[in-house]
Amino acid sequence: MTLHERLAELATFGATAEGIDRALFTPPEREARERFTAWAREDGLHVEQDRAGNVFARLGGRAAGAPVQCGSHLDTVRNGGAYDGAYGVVGGLEALRRIAVSGEAPARALEVVAWAGEEGSRFPLGCLGSAVYAGLTSYDEAAALVADDGETFASALRGPSGLLDGVPVRDGFPPPAAYVELHIEQGPVMEREGARLGIVSAIAGQRRFRVRVDGVAGHSGTVPMNGRADALCAAADLVLAVEAAARAQEDTVATVGHLNVEPNQTNIVPGRVVLRIDLRSIDDARIAAVERTVRAEAAEIAVRRGVHVTIEVLEARAAVPMETRMRLLVRAACLERDPNAIEIASGAGHDAMCIAQIAPAAMIFVPSIGGRSHVGDERTAPADLELGVEALGATLLAVAASGVGSSGEAGASNP
Ligand code: GLV
Ligand code: MN
Ligand code: MN
Repeated sequence: MTLHERLAELATFGATAEGIDRALFTPPEREARERFTAWAREDGLHVEQDRAGNVFARLGGRAAGAPVQCGSHLDTVRNGGAYDGAYGVVGGLEALRRIAVSGEAPARALEVVAWAGEEGSRFPLGCLGSAVYAGLTSYDEAAALVADDGETFASALRGPSGLLDGVPVRDGFPPPAAYVELHIEQGPVMEREGARLGIVSAIAGQRRFRVRVDGVAGHSGTVPMNGRADALCAAADLVLAVEAAARAQEDTVATVGHLNVEPNQTNIVPGRVVLRIDLRSIDDARIAAVERTVRAEAAEIAVRRGVHVTIEVLEARAAVPMETRMRLLVRAACLERDPNAIEIASGAGHDAMCIAQIAPAAMIFVPSIGGRSHVGDERTAPADLELGVEALGATLLAVAASGVGSSGEAGASNP
């Protein structure tokens, strides 16, 4: 099967009227991991999983030691697209397949990884599998996470859509020698610049918060307007304050994309709202500034509207620059194939953020048509998908042949 046929098949798992819904440890997400495993075995790779649900497919190299890894994720956001994550996994498989059929064994082992739960769309932590693998979140902490549907990570992992049958469970979380992630840009910059390949300079930092607004529920017909503590009206003020705080900073974005109203009845004044804020910038100081403003605004809204506001940090990841030597190797591979390749910062989060904490890491982007992503009509031109795989294959071979991440090098060992 070609790269495009594999991507098309994966897109059928979890297909909805508006996109793809493949949340971690649900039947379609497991189906995607099973297909990945079958394809990897067909391609002659050795497949293992770890106890966090990450799946590894390895091609042996001439020298023993830690592999040079690539990969991404197979889960999607709700009504997401066919390329976010899936492209890096299937593209990684394709790059390894081409290297294997070339008959020339790579200098070091190469591995493609399907990281578990990058999107944070079921459990309230993004990059979940890669964070556990990198030691940033302990296995026990992950195991206790509760999904929006009430199931814990540990129970989902043991359940029918959890760990795969017939795939050995790797003991421990050995770090790679180096890591390269291939991904769609998910924004409009490359298309605008006429670039077909992007050399990622850094990944934006991000913070996610859960905010609970407690007001007083009551009868919508009898509680006078001036006697209310309407949680939704207070939340609405806060949503607009979040938008204004991010607008006041350069290159900073903040979104409230998740909001629950209780009891959510037409004739009841809302008593409680729980919402989530997603805040990002390539400059961590700007994230901190927006957080300070939002907290101050929340305190002011609480007093003015007679509600109680509590803010919990769900996730905090600092901005991550890509490792210099890896970036140079990516740059050489990209410029050779696209003279218009550009350096680009990633506004989206990626598993590479976590793996960069334990190994030299870099990323390659291909353009997104119309900059569309996290929606069903996410697209990338087939020729650009091909070019990205070529650039990935060349980078993997170059990294494997280089000294980057060779044993004993600082930054390449798991704490
Ligand atoms: C993942 O796609 C994220 O950036 O939230
Ligand atoms: Mn992704
Ligand atoms: Mn995504």
